[in-house]
Amino acid sequence: MTVSSADAEVDLAIYDEIEHLKRREDATILAHYYQDGAIQEIADITGDSLKLARAATGVNSKTIVFCGVHFMAETAKILNPEKRVLLPDTLAGCSLADGCPADRLARFQTELRNRGRRFDTVTYINSSADVKAISDWIVTSGNAIEIVRDRVPSDREILFVPDRHLGKYVEEATGRKLILWDGACVVHEVFSVSELLKTRRRLANSITIAHPECPVNIREQADFVGGTEAMLKYVDLIEQPAEILVATEANMLWRLQNNVPRHRYHPVPGVTCACNTCPHMARNTLEKVRDCLRTGGPEIGWRDAFDRAAAVLRRSLLG
Ligand code: 13P
Repeated sequence: MTVSSADAEVDLAIYDEIEHLKRREDATILAHYYQDGAIQEIADITGDSLKLARAATGVNSKTIVFCGVHFMAETAKILNPEKRVLLPDTLAGCSLADGCPADRLARFQTELRNRGRRFDTVTYINSSADVKAISDWIVTSGNAIEIVRDRVPSDREILFVPDRHLGKYVEEATGRKLILWDGACVVHEVFSVSELLKTRRRLANSITIAHPECPVNIREQADFVGGTEAMLKYVDLIEQPAEILVATEANMLWRLQNNVPRHRYHPVPGVTCACNTCPHMARNTLEKVRDCLRTGGPEIGWRDAFDRAAAVLRRSLLG
């Protein structure tokens, strides 16, 4: 039997197979809101980056299948060294993480120090473990403002990496001047303001929500700016059915529709296309989830950088 889920026909037998393998392997499936709806459906826990990182530390099973991108599975492993963490497709990367290699960051930090600058490095969780290991704080879209405002000592400058748009947003929200790394997310960078305005003219009284990874020209047009978890809370507070334009990865619309179905959700079009799907997130499929449970791989192995990254992650996200 098949059923239409998200945008694909899904063979129901695979759900049974995954359930069976999950029990056999003593596994818990975690999925980010940017995963295909069919994957979110089989997950034990869905969430944004912050919720999933925290949830991973409360999992009782000996295996975690992380349906998300590489840095998320790596974070789950760093916070749970004793667990086996599987990522259905290890090539599921992140343009932000790729744009900030640890050796380049280390050189830039040295340059700044040589110029007498005293700073803390505040790093978006969308980064490699090697970058986390040379950082002072790790933030997500869910706690970046709080960490910069309340925890980074006020007598220190802040080097914020790797997302310049999130950095700009945090700068505006906290009033602290940040040194920004020149990185951006390929998905959030492509939203088109003119297409957004066109769609808005078509939909009277619509509400626009945007992820803080969006450039300022999109954020300026938004009624609400927040990460994916905050978006869910925000739309839930709107009591009357509304037309909601969503400037973030396309699969988030599935989650919004599922959790708060009284509204209608519309993707904000991109400059060159109408779909803002993350090509990395899209690498994970139900078949790959099944296969990683069947074979026990690909698995995130322990690396030296994880020890130092663990301390930074713990004090930033769990402290
Ligand atoms: P949140 O999970 O914090 O909403 O951010 C989305 C993201 O960038 C995942 O790569």
